[in-house]
Amino acid sequence: MKLVMIGAGYVGLTTSACFASLGHEVTCVENDPQRIEPLTRGEIPIFEPGLDDLVRDGVAAGRLRFTDELGTAVGRAEAVFLAVGTPCLPNGAMDLSHVEAAVRQMARYLHPATLVVVKSTVVAGTARRLRSLIAQIRGQADIKVASNPEFLREGSALADFFGADRIVLGADEQSAAGLLDRIYRPLARKGVPTVRTSTTSAELIKYAANAFLALKIGFIDDVADLCEAAGGDIADVGRGIGLDRRIGEAFLSPGPGFGGSCFPKDTRAFADTGRVHGTPQPLVECLVDRNEQRKRRLAQKVIDEVNLHDGRTVAVLGIAFKGNTDDVRESAALTIVPMLRRAGLAVRAHDPRAARDGIAELAGIVRCNTAYEAVSDADAVVILTDWDEYRRLEPERLATLMHGRVLFDFRNLLDPSRVSLAGLRYFGRGRPEARVATATNGGAASLRETAAASPA
Ligand code: UDX
Repeated sequence: MKLVMIGAGYVGLTTSACFASLGHEVTCVENDPQRIEPLTRGEIPIFEPGLDDLVRDGVAAGRLRFTDELGTAVGRAEAVFLAVGTPCLPNGAMDLSHVEAAVRQMARYLHPATLVVVKSTVVAGTARRLRSLIAQIRGQADIKVASNPEFLREGSALADFFGADRIVLGADEQSAAGLLDRIYRPLARKGVPTVRTSTTSAELIKYAANAFLALKIGFIDDVADLCEAAGGDIADVGRGIGLDRRIGEAFLSPGPGFGGSCFPKDTRAFADTGRVHGTPQPLVECLVDRNEQRKRRLAQKVIDEVNLHDGRTVAVLGIAFKGNTDDVRESAALTIVPMLRRAGLAVRAHDPRAARDGIAELAGIVRCNTAYEAVSDADAVVILTDWDEYRRLEPERLATLMHGRVLFDFRNLLDPSRVSLAGLRYFGRGRPEARVATATNGGAASLRETAAASPA
């Protein structure tokens, strides 16, 4: 089928390449002419494993092309997908201006049989509002608008597309539903479940899914706090609740607070939608506040511990909002690093992939090429991003390179006992104090007991 994708960002670029891989003929419209040539060569401006090869395959097969000519592309399409950004306004409401600008630009070029499909994350009722806007511009209500939200995670987007848990097809007319079915038939044939519903329900599914996933993360972060205070082990508690199929084991890893281009934005927009419709969402409203408070509280915990030992320098390992991506949007580092700097501490930082320059919140820090370079002479180390390479850090080597003795592992990547045996004070997220076997009784004792038992 002939498809057009408006927007060549994370979602538009990935979905265009995946649609081409399914056999569709895709034209991806990018409004920056400078990006057309590099994209056509498969030079991808984002780190998404496998995407560059998939783009090159689509271009080589003649099923994927890039253009900045929206009008000509749209005119021949059976379906036009909108994958432009829907950022957050200061009050938490969603900014629809990019979506409406794209609709105004393309409305007059649309063929009456062409279906407009909103893939961007938009609040309930948007598809219906866009249908009215298009009718107003064209002078007739001949264009149908559908909703097809995406559930792609950065760093695993291709797997999330081809191995989707479900495809959500939101249509208010049978003809629109039939066309969406044709587009996704190759996935449906592989057994991917399809949820056929109205446009409004499809829009709500997207927000409710992200809000629920964010709530699950916020909940396990709160339970990790409780484990720290009560002496529990979050790994056991997470496993103990996650094996209940009604809960599920995924998304129960505590961290420094969730980030990314979606959860923070979508939870704020979901809460705003609730307010707008007179059905406030207090759970999500509380979650949004607590998530930001958590990042600040953890920063203060580092500052207090470093000041306790008259430290001056902190090594931050991880700038990206999670492992396997170079995206730093709403990353915990963007809250924590400025607080460390405002407290007068010097910050040395490393990240295997995250964008290096032009990030205001990271002004004045020293960017290091390796994790071990970053920790050299540092008074404390703070692990913020769950990169696999940080799981392989050697505590003994860290201890040798560091000046101070404190390690904050806010992703629970390292073995607390091994870190303690290396002579470092370990702070995880919801983990019991490191226990090391003592020579005298052969039993396990906390680090504090061991230190108390040893001669001054
Ligand atoms: C999310 C949704 O998962 C995806 O379905 C939607 O389409 C887009 O938004 P993404 O933002 O790429 O995807 O990242 P995700 O993997 O969901 O992680 C979001 C944040 O939660 C990250 O900061 C991550 O570190 C954090 N997280 C995730 C945890 O702290 N613990 C977990 O167990 C999982």
